[in-house]
Amino acid sequence: MTRRPARKLVRAAAGMAGAAALCAAAVWWLGVRDAGEGDTEGQGAAKSGAPMGTTRSGAGTGTGTDPSLVERGAYLARAGNCQGCHTAQGGAPYAGGRGVPTPFGTVFAPNLTPDASTGLGRWSANDFWRALHHGRARGGRLLYPAFPYPNYTRVTRADADALFAYLQGLRPVTQANTPHALAWPFDQQAALAVWRALYFRAAEAGATTGPNAGREPGRSAEWQRGAYLVEGLGHCNACHASRNALGATASTLDLAGGLIPVQNWYAPSLTSPAEAGVADWSVPHITELLRSGVATPGALVTVMGPMAEVVGGSTQYLNDADLQAMAVYLKALPQAAAAGRAPMADGASGHDTTATTAATATPAGAKLYDLHCAACHGEQGEGAPGAYPALAGSRAITLRSPANLVHAVLEGGFPPTTAGNPRPYGMPPFATLLGNDDVAAVLTHVRGSWGNRAAAVTSLEVSRLRGTK
Ligand code: HEC
Ligand code: HEC
Ligand code: HEC
Repeated sequence: MTRRPARKLVRAAAGMAGAAALCAAAVWWLGVRDAGEGDTEGQGAAKSGAPMGTTRSGAGTGTGTDPSLVERGAYLARAGNCQGCHTAQGGAPYAGGRGVPTPFGTVFAPNLTPDASTGLGRWSANDFWRALHHGRARGGRLLYPAFPYPNYTRVTRADADALFAYLQGLRPVTQANTPHALAWPFDQQAALAVWRALYFRAAEAGATTGPNAGREPGRSAEWQRGAYLVEGLGHCNACHASRNALGATASTLDLAGGLIPVQNWYAPSLTSPAEAGVADWSVPHITELLRSGVATPGALVTVMGPMAEVVGGSTQYLNDADLQAMAVYLKALPQAAAAGRAPMADGASGHDTTATTAATATPAGAKLYDLHCAACHGEQGEGAPGAYPALAGSRAITLRSPANLVHAVLEGGFPPTTAGNPRPYGMPPFATLLGNDDVAAVLTHVRGSWGNRAAAVTSLEVSRLRGTK
């Protein structure tokens, strides 16, 4: 009488084993499928792997490497802000250790210096190309897209080689990589293989043979260069796009705005004039914002938080021609009509146009504003030219998501220090001075005064954002 259940058990076990084998086969297939076979650019440039070998033996001195190549690599590393992620706070540049927070855990950026045991000392130019273009480490391990290779895959082989020459010329730093802290199953290569099959395609050869050989052949060379920088090295859409439950953006061309996971800053839409679209800005105003972190297209605009890091670590160093190309590309992005924009399901973004939810200023909020804020931002929220941004009539204030405003009040902040704005005016943090109710009241006042009409901010929203950065 025990025979039947036993047979059932055997059958179930066999079924499970079969399913497991199938899964394994699928994962294996997914893994090899994007291994970069038939990648003519990669093979064609194998010869450029040789000079890199010479660099490696002379690591730290750059012996045998064309100095202009290294210089170009240094410039491109700025354009990609490689140092920003690959440097721990207070740590040696490019020695890694900074964590990139994701909803699935923290992915730590590794050591990119040419140290043989802990860095890229044993890498060839081909290994490096495979990392940037295919998202695979030396040895074949699949890399997490917290490293923005879905954007960097658009970088040309020539630019990748210049980047590699620059990194190989850095002083080697011996610093072991921090292991990632990811929850199961996201710590599994199999899960990553599935993710890549769904969401990652290495750029085709044609898309990366040169900045001017991209999509839309009818566009000017300047637009093509701008597209190459914004979509590729600049990885603007790593922040300026919404992500699905598995952390993927719709495409690398999506710039319609999104909440940055975990950090909870909202990167506004670059395709909406009501958010951060710059179609109606002049090219000089756009380049000024990217170069100096402040601009005055109407009232003063400053960059904050993660965008201040982008300007501070990357765009401020770009040359006039490249900034201009980016501006031309950003200006030409098709803009969604402000009023026609469908509200997002998660309510995380968008410009608030619903009068019913509009904030009504309370006496408590007005009092807090006069006491703590008016000295800088003006009694009518008019700001101060060249110093303090206007809060009245500012699109940054009326975004549906109040996240950035809460961050600004709790943490304060400075625009980046740049040649164009060498002594930026800052804002003090109010985290210890104001409770959640106070922050909610003062921001509700700001969002409902002087012609601003956006939803009230609740103390629950403030408490959720406290402690996220
Ligand atoms: C947004 C943060 C971020 C930026 C910007 C970034 N990286 Fe990374 N990078 C990472 C993370 C995180 C990893 C680890 C991924 C993994 O282990 O799966 C990584 C991995 C790598 C690797 C693989 C190294 C190894 O030991 O396996 C290389 C090579 C690399 N990055 C080069 C670059 C270059 C070149 C740039 C600039 C063009 C750059 N990264 C910009 C976050 C970043
Ligand atoms: C690390 C995330 C991140 C990346 C990468 C990023 N941005 Fe942003 N960006 C933000 C956030 C957050 C804001 C909102 C805060 C602010 O206005 O400064 C923003 C704001 C902006 C604004 C509006 C500024 C204003 O105040 O009106 C522009 C324009 C912009 N970004 C352009 C770009 C471009 C171009 C790139 C690529 C070179 C880029 N961003 C890359 C996070 C990012
Ligand atoms: C000492 C002057 C000063 C005081 C006081 C001050 N701010 Fe600010 N505020 C600034 C500066 C400077 C910035 C730009 C910061 C940046 O770009 O990082 C700013 C930015 C902001 C922003 C973001 C604006 C934008 O365009 O994105 C908001 C919202 C804000 N402040 C609200 C407040 C509120 C509310 C108070 C009072 C509780 C306050 N500020 C007090 C100087 C001040």
